[in-house]
Amino acid sequence: MNQKFAVVLAAGQGTRMKSKLYKVLHKVCGKPMVQHIVDKLRNISVDEIAVVVGHGAEAVKQQLGSDIKYAFQEQQLGTAHAMLMCKDLLKDKVGTTIVVTGDTPLIKEETLRGLMQHHLQVHAAATVLTTVLDDATGYGRIVRNHQSHVERIVEHKDATEEERKIGEISTGIFCFDNQKLFAALAEVRNDNVQGEYYLPDVIEILTKQNEMISAYQTDDPEEGMGVNDRVQLSYAEQVMRRRINEGHMKNGVTLIDPATTYIEADVVIGRDSVIEPGTHLRGKTVVGEDCVVGPQADLTDTILENEVHIQYTVVQQSTIRNVASVGPFAYVRPGSDIGEHTKVGDFVELKNTILGNGSKVSHLSYLGDATVGQHVNVGCGTITVNYDGVKKHRTIIGDNAFIGCNANLIAPVQIGDGAYVAAGSTINQDVPEQSMAIARERQTNKEGYAAKLLRKEK
Ligand code: UD1
Ligand code: CA
Repeated sequence: MNQKFAVVLAAGQGTRMKSKLYKVLHKVCGKPMVQHIVDKLRNISVDEIAVVVGHGAEAVKQQLGSDIKYAFQEQQLGTAHAMLMCKDLLKDKVGTTIVVTGDTPLIKEETLRGLMQHHLQVHAAATVLTTVLDDATGYGRIVRNHQSHVERIVEHKDATEEERKIGEISTGIFCFDNQKLFAALAEVRNDNVQGEYYLPDVIEILTKQNEMISAYQTDDPEEGMGVNDRVQLSYAEQVMRRRINEGHMKNGVTLIDPATTYIEADVVIGRDSVIEPGTHLRGKTVVGEDCVVGPQADLTDTILENEVHIQYTVVQQSTIRNVASVGPFAYVRPGSDIGEHTKVGDFVELKNTILGNGSKVSHLSYLGDATVGQHVNVGCGTITVNYDGVKKHRTIIGDNAFIGCNANLIAPVQIGDGAYVAAGSTINQDVPEQSMAIARERQTNKEGYAAKLLRKEK
């Protein structure tokens, strides 16, 4: 059976990044480069994925998970040497192996699929994915013979002046007949400028064996871009952001200003939603239909149902339900669930708080570890006193309750359905349903006192 295998080369140290973080774990649009590649390989349905890792091995494994095979390359002696680390995993298998460098996050899924299809169609021993660049500096050049068949790939550092003029480059992505690949790898030498074992040298070795070599060219040069330093990283970010934004617009989402809209790779947005400038949508955020998000919203791993309105607000790991309105200037922290037709207004902070349908927290409140029922009015300045210095405690407020302004609710405490809390109260005992709690100093007015004061001063 002709199986499909994928190898991701990710053991390089990435010295040019000048970073403590392993190169392929640097993020592009919120997702590590190597994860972008693995996700795309999964989508083209290969039977097995192996990732070659080096010193940052543990961190890469943690990122990618355990349904992937790992090969360890102790010393980074070159891309062919990295490939050889997969010998035990792959050498004896029959099928096609697609090799992708871990630092080319811009490669498109359809291009990987096209490369694989082309390779199988022409029955090549090896197919290299190429593209033409205006400035090919640093890349391996594709050397073709007079019949324009690919003969070999020469690395920039090893190339002659003439060869450096070639605009067609190797993206570092290949398809190989698996067994021919491993046979050829054994013959790769390191007699080059860098003293490395180059995977591209396999092409020349196979050419000499009269094997069929093919090239598959993508006309989008951005796809082949390798990220070796942080300038290229920012460029990749820009390209991917543009692609993501255009994808959403084509799906029926309005972006008022794509240049200042930052949407990470895995975010989903429903039709007719409008994303206003200065908005960041991160992680696994899902925005429903007919929402207006922004200006200046920053949402992480958050679910918005439909017709939600959010402005100048930060939301993390929370759910906001249909027709809710949040902001301006609210801060919704993890674990919150904001019900339908609710209002969370200015300078309100919620943490791990459930707000029932139709309830309002309109201004200047902190609700932490609270469960608030339906149609509750939480007055301005209300604070749940949820922390006693050691433990966090819950506040429970029943349906239709009314919390007056500037109340302190000292948790654990429960306010019954339909109960009232008088403004300025500090509540440290449960309030029965349908009752009114007032817990504040009684006011005394001293009549004529002002005149008395004035007399004294004279
Ligand atoms: C490589 C190619 C070049 C191609 C370019 C495309 C070689 C020799 N050169 O150059 O032809 O045009 O990519 O971007 O293959 N790696 C290892 N182990 C090693 C060395 C590298 O796993 O010992 C991994 C790196 O983590 C990286 C990838 O292989 O993901 C490519 O290595 P890099 O050093 O970036 O190669 P380039 O100089 O960019
Ligand atoms: Ca590279």
